[in-house]
Amino acid sequence: MISNKMQAEINRQINAELWSAYLYLAMSLDAESKALQGAANWFFVQWLEEQDHSRILQNYLNDRGAKVVLSPIESVPNKWKSLLDMLENALVQERKVTEMINRIYSLAYEEDDFATMSRMQWFIDEQVEEEKSVTDAINTLRDMPVYYFDQIMAERKYSQASPLKKDDDSKE
Ligand code: FEO
Repeated sequence: MISNKMQAEINRQINAELWSAYLYLAMSLDAESKALQGAANWFFVQWLEEQDHSRILQNYLNDRGAKVVLSPIESVPNKWKSLLDMLENALVQERKVTEMINRIYSLAYEEDDFATMSRMQWFIDEQVEEEKSVTDAINTLRDMPVYYFDQIMAERKYSQASPLKKDDDSKE
């Protein structure tokens, strides 16, 4: 049985992941308006990945017999000074998400909720990747002209998050 407190926390995280998705969509659109097609692609892939993160948590609550409650998604900024500005803001957001994930894990530990600890472990590992990929992007951008970096960003491809792939496989 998942506690009411935990249900509320995970519902809050579902909303936070959707807010992140919305933020990255706004960055993708802003990059496109700045003729940075590669960066637009990179942020668009991130928008898809954040929706996956939310979906994993929705599936988890459903699997535990808990209720997913969708709350309004707050508005996001629509404009940034530069690509570097976008990435620096993305890093701030990823660090916030990491803190939120850590808080959920800590609550699960207090409540002896081992199933939630197990599910949140995926997110803890994912956040290491998320923070690293944005940090790497910032460092690379500082070392090369935006035009060339934009071409590198064009290469990023979307791959569905592994817990969703497993869910799909198990239904076959
Ligand atoms: Fe779902 Fe980028 O954290």
